[in-house]
Amino acid sequence: MINEMRAAIFDLDGVIVDTAKYHYLAWKRLAKELGFEFSETDNERLKGVSRMRSLEILLEVGGLTLSDEAKTAAAARKNTWYVEYITRMDASEILPGAAHYLRFIRARGVKTALGSASKNAPTILERLGITPLFDAVVDGNKVSRAKPDPEVFLRAAHELGIPPASCVVFEDADAGIEAALRAGMGAVGVGRPEVLKKADMVIGGLWQLNILFNNQAEL
Ligand code: BG6
Ligand code: MG
Repeated sequence: MINEMRAAIFDLDGVIVDTAKYHYLAWKRLAKELGFEFSETDNERLKGVSRMRSLEILLEVGGLTLSDEAKTAAAARKNTWYVEYITRMDASEILPGAAHYLRFIRARGVKTALGSASKNAPTILERLGITPLFDAVVDGNKVSRAKPDPEVFLRAAHELGIPPASCVVFEDADAGIEAALRAGMGAVGVGRPEVLKKADMVIGGLWQLNILFNNQAEL
């Protein structure tokens, strides 16, 4: 049940921007170095998942085990390559309708926050030029418990000073929908209804809200 939306909290990867392709290129490169192939289907399992958990899934796919030290080094190498990709991003990579929808709701007094597992979120927002569209940014550097734990969204609500019941989360990952519901917030799935079954409603992308609510005016 979605109450009046006083704050909107957005996941980053898959909602505002499609960084999954860059994560994939970097993980694939790491897998190759370790001597195995990593497919796009395997990559689906990494969406919304923390960096270290992603590495564990990758190693499981390759049938490898590494020491904790080697794991830390491997995750850092992957991140170096990933950062090379994202520092080349620009505003053209913002997903359709995302910036417009953010401007639209902000103009109507709705507070906005980012709630992402990524430690690279601030860099990505800077590259896209949309940092000013968020009143709060809660990312992987600020929280210790990964989605489906509600920590990231509860912290965002706290930073915005809005009660959870008046927040709506926009998420493309099942674990993120679960986290939003556990936080007592409304949950809008961005993606396919058959995957995001628990969401209060599911849209194909933020562009759809601009059409549904006829908020086409230039902002
Ligand atoms: C999430 C992505 O947003 O961030 C995951 O969906 C990623 O695929 C996670 O692993 C952590 O990102 P980063 O940038 O801290 O490695
Ligand atoms: Mg996501």
